[in-house]
Amino acid sequence: MHILKSITLITLSASLLLSAPQNKKASELDKVIKIGDRSSKLLIKTLGKQMKSKLKKDGVMKALDFCANEAYNITQKVNKKLPKGVRVKRISTKYRNPANAPKDNELAVLESFQKIKNSNIIMPKQLVEQVDEKTFKYYKPLFINNKACLACHGTIKDVEIRRAIAARYPIDSANDYELGDLRGAVVVTIIKSAK
Ligand code: HEC
Repeated sequence: MHILKSITLITLSASLLLSAPQNKKASELDKVIKIGDRSSKLLIKTLGKQMKSKLKKDGVMKALDFCANEAYNITQKVNKKLPKGVRVKRISTKYRNPANAPKDNELAVLESFQKIKNSNIIMPKQLVEQVDEKTFKYYKPLFINNKACLACHGTIKDVEIRRAIAARYPIDSANDYELGDLRGAVVVTIIKSAK
């Protein structure tokens, strides 16, 4: 009886010890996903809302100016609203602004999203990369989910608009997308503050 009790105790404490780090990891991942969800939504909502209202009110040319001049500033403003150590940005393999080119593992993640899409595997809501002990990257796939996107990222027939884009972005490759295509990803970098 006595021996059995000790064995049970030992097994119990061993399993607790073993599961503790895993629980910690799981709750850490939950937190990363929560912050990533919130931050990526804030960027997409803020950019989308302003771009769409500009497009409706002033047409494609003015909206293009707006995107070219303000996308960066709006992203910086959103970053200022996020908690310390959290930053958000957009990336794409077919980028318009070279500042949005994928870096480090970002290209591998974008290529994985594309492979998943091509294989008809259900797209995950997000992928998470642990960069180092303190740093995580949250990736949310971004799609051409609205006809409005095609005005500036589709096959553009309007010569004026094509010229206006080329004048601002000489090495632009963010064209010829179709509705439903993977456009890129929102990346949220989360650096845990030292506790
Ligand atoms: C009025 C024109 C316009 C419309 C409409 C538009 N975009 Fe863009 N988009 C741009 C411009 C200009 C840039 C480059 C911004 C910069 O310089 O940072 C850009 C950049 C991006 C980027 C960053 C990667 C890159 O290529 O530099 C993503 C992702 C993106 N757009 C997705 C979308 C999606 C999704 C939609 C539809 C909801 C959309 N865009 C609608 C003009 C537009």
